[in-house]
Amino acid sequence: MTRRIMPRDVAAIPPIYNDLDAMDAHAWTLLARGANEARSLLHTPVLASIGLDGAPQARTVVLRAVDRAARQLRIHTDRRSPKFAELQHDPRVTLLAYDAAETLQVRLRGAASLHTGDALAHAAWVASAPSSRACYAQTEPPGSAIDCPGIAPPVPASESQAGYENFAVVLLSVTAIETLYLA
Ligand SMILES: Cc1cc2nc3c(=O)[nH]c(=O)nc-3n(C[C@H](O)[C@H](O)[C@H](O)COP(=O)(O)O)c2cc1C
Repeated sequence: MTRRIMPRDVAAIPPIYNDLDAMDAHAWTLLARGANEARSLLHTPVLASIGLDGAPQARTVVLRAVDRAARQLRIHTDRRSPKFAELQHDPRVTLLAYDAAETLQVRLRGAASLHTGDALAHAAWVASAPSSRACYAQTEPPGSAIDCPGIAPPVPASESQAGYENFAVVLLSVTAIETLYLA
């Protein structure tokens, strides 16, 4: 049985959604907006990885930068976090976001490369706000069990290197993009 697409349906779909190249470009435009605008829903996508036990794992991350020419995305994390070990073990990832304003789901697949203590990590660290750096100066590794939440650590001085040894850049090389537009 074939589904008949009525002219009314077709008219409701903006032409861009039937043009793969235009759609790819549009997805990268939205991703770039996500990296640059904190209010964009693509600013905080969900990064899925494969747990060390083989079960799926997912968490919200901040999309820090997008390199459309290289088809790469940049995320920051703590090398002590479970996700770092997971990505070391298996770099395959999925990144998922839904832009409600565009009614567009964007799902990426790719491979993660991890950077600590190199030029890339250093450049990202230097460009990070002191409030962001403070997360990496926590003495307890992310995910540690605690009796009760403590107070947030003091924000280090902007020139402080505290936490740099825990700071990691995750570069995602995108191998596939799927978009879903709900008309
Ligand atoms: C809005 C938001 C943004 C977040 N951004 C990041 C991030 O950029 N990097 C990161 O490692 N964790 C980020 N987190 C925390 C993760 O979602 C997750 O809870 C934490 O990193 C532990 O993940 P893991 O146990 O899978 O390693 C963010 C959480 C929220 C709610």
